Amino acid sequence: MITVTVCSAKGGVGKTSVTLGLASAALHRSLSTLVVDLDPQADATSGLDVTAQRAHDVAAVLRTPKRRVAESAVAPSGWVDDHPGLLDVVSGSAASAGLDAPDPQEADLESLRRALRKLDDHQLALLDCPPSLGGLTRSAWRASDAVLVVSDASRFSVAAVGRTLDEVAALRSGPRVAGVLVNRYSPRSGEQRFRLEELRSLFGDLVLEPLPDRVAVPQSQGAGKPLHALRPVAAQRVAEQFDRLLDVVLDQHVRDGTRPSGHGG
Ligand SMILES: Nc1ncnc2c1ncn2[C@@H]1O[C@H](COP(=O)(O)OP(=O)(O)OP(=O)(O)O)[C@@H](O)[C@H]1O
Ligand SMILES: [Mg+2]
Repeated sequence: MITVTVCSAKGGVGKTSVTLGLASAALHRSLSTLVVDLDPQADATSGLDVTAQRAHDVAAVLRTPKRRVAESAVAPSGWVDDHPGLLDVVSGSAASAGLDAPDPQEADLESLRRALRKLDDHQLALLDCPPSLGGLTRSAWRASDAVLVVSDASRFSVAAVGRTLDEVAALRSGPRVAGVLVNRYSPRSGEQRFRLEELRSLFGDLVLEPLPDRVAVPQSQGAGKPLHALRPVAAQRVAEQFDRLLDVVLDQHVRDGTRPSGHGG
């Protein structure tokens, strides 16, 4: 199982939308996927249309990372009613807010990694994080092979991306940084073009092909459907971009030569 954290120090930049887009791309290529919703707001759980009740949620799993608890927290996504096991979710919970300590203990940092070792029958795990670099996000880093940092193209985000990359780099045998994804990019804005260039000058090849602002993203979420199920051409273009992003997080773009623009070198 390849485990990928989707995180940012800032709120509302698109972590959950990117998690859902990657889950949609993984589903499109029949990659069995587990989404772990670490955010107390539980938006990923809602977006993945989870309706089944389970005995446990992510807060219980983090408190007691045993096989019995972890397995009984896994619920199917409503996206795949006809393919059980292809897309599963460990549901988010408001109770996880109590576990987002600014100074987590070693046992707190280890708990998610321990739990995921019991749930390794999926090919991919996507960890959607709350908008902070507290205990929950750090426990996700600890459990991950790769980290995807989501940002917008604004002045305050440039510093936040730097802080996040510094913290990941300081981890002992930490995860690979898959890249920095600028989301809701609008090239018509001179300010956004300037910030994207600033990010590129600071972080070079780590800055990926930016994801444009497209109504298909909130539309798919509103309909409770994967992006790849939307028919309009504009939606298909965004879905294709998530296909390329999935290659990046899986580190397959190097091998098969489909390295996206903005990530050259
Ligand atoms: N590329 C995009 N184009 C248009 N709208 C988008 C795009 N990405 C995200 N959005 C919208 O922006 C809003 C915030 O996105 P999202 O909830 O994914 O951010 P987040 O980083 O997960 O927020 P939080 O920090 O609260 O968890 C949502 O309404 C979402 O539909
Ligand atoms: Mg979110």
